[in-house]
Amino acid sequence: MKNIVLIGFMGVGKGTIARELSRQSSLVTVDTDDLIESLENKKVREIFEESGEKYFRELEKKIALWLEKSVKDTIVSTGGGFYKQKNIKKIGKIVYLKSSFDAILKRICDHPNAQKKIAKRPLLKDLKKAKKLYKERVDEYKNIADIIIDVENRSSIEIAKEIVSKII
Ligand code: S3P
Repeated sequence: MKNIVLIGFMGVGKGTIARELSRQSSLVTVDTDDLIESLENKKVREIFEESGEKYFRELEKKIALWLEKSVKDTIVSTGGGFYKQKNIKKIGKIVYLKSSFDAILKRICDHPNAQKKIAKRPLLKDLKKAKKLYKERVDEYKNIADIIIDVENRSSIEIAKEIVSKII
């Protein structure tokens, strides 16, 4: 098996689901934003503020090439824009975690650390822009996916079980 690559919009729960999937499958999980933060020794928010989005996307490209070349049997949780990397299909099986924009917003806002969750995501601060971005991306996520999993109103345990039954 190559890797399992989780894609989907900001706040959909990729990290939480990746960790539950890791628990159920005993595969290790990595997160592309975490890899970028350790590469630069900066938070994603700082990278956006200091060097801009274009530079952040270059770092995503670097990570994408490294994942393709050097990583296997791993669950890869990705940033919401990582799906645009040209080699993403070569990294592993693409699992799109699908949810409506309103359910994503609710999930973030209901979280005890909601303010922190919003503050660390530069592209989520302006809700109008975030909704536009969601609309632009939703079909692209679907088109690139090998498997689409509906995650709305479901527990991460249930979602991970479905992924395991379909892939592993
Ligand atoms: C982004 C999503 C973020 C992070 C960066 C850009 C995007 O990751 O990579 O802020 O373009 O959608 P999450 O999806 O984990 O929030």
